[in-house]
Amino acid sequence: MATKAIAAQPTGAESFRRVYVWELPVRLYHWVNALCVVVLCATGYLIGRPLAITYSSEAYQQYWFGTVRFIHFVAGFVFFFNFLVRIYWGFIGNSYAKWTNFIPTRRAQWQEMMEVTKVDVLQTSARRIVTVGHNALAGVIYFLSFLAFLFQSLTGFALYSSMSHSWFPRIFAWITPLMGGDFAVRQWHHIFMWFFILFVLIHVYLVFYHDYIEGRGTTSSMVGGWKFKAGGDEDE
Ligand code: HEM
Repeated sequence: MATKAIAAQPTGAESFRRVYVWELPVRLYHWVNALCVVVLCATGYLIGRPLAITYSSEAYQQYWFGTVRFIHFVAGFVFFFNFLVRIYWGFIGNSYAKWTNFIPTRRAQWQEMMEVTKVDVLQTSARRIVTVGHNALAGVIYFLSFLAFLFQSLTGFALYSSMSHSWFPRIFAWITPLMGGDFAVRQWHHIFMWFFILFVLIHVYLVFYHDYIEGRGTTSSMVGGWKFKAGGDEDE
């Protein structure tokens, strides 16, 4: 994950080497997670602020809100177990998928975080930072977002435990009294939806930004798995 800052973008004359970065389980996890987050935000928003729709038929003949909730719960289960698969892959996956990328324990990672902050956030430096996997700052942000995934899953299953007789959600029933009751859990679950919406907006922007600045296939790498290294890039 060493970083090399160079002055200019690689030109068309440079030769590039293909590097297989994102393995299939990481790519599958990514797109299943992305789909779940969109579905959970849309259905969650509707659950928190239901539409006032007028029907000509009786209320008991309608089930659209039940369908919205059902979709939310199914997506919630997929979201949670998909997340567990990613945690497992953090232990057995390749060097780019490993947990060491997410928790900065080495001095070089902290230095890279400062560099990326100067370039991407403060924009006080225009140097191009070359990392093949996640840069150190992105890794830490993903780690924090994993904590948010966990929080959202715990509060979601805590809410679900009071409306399901299944053994699995019941495991989380103790969370509701711990957080101050059903109302407080719903509030936190709702507030965290806005974290997910903000995350998606900033994440997509940064992917396109890095793709444009670095020109090394950031966007397509999450489809095919490959990124490109210019001849002078040292990063591994
Ligand atoms: C990205 C992840 C998620 C987001 C953005 C999200 C969002 C939301 C929102 C905004 C609400 C409405 C809260 C309110 O204002 O009353 C809600 C309700 C709920 N969510 Fe989630 N949620 C997520 C994950 C989960 C998971 C993993 C589960 C686990 C099954 C879950 C289960 C529930 C339940 C049981 C309710 C209450 C439904 C009801 O009372 O009708 N959610 N969610």
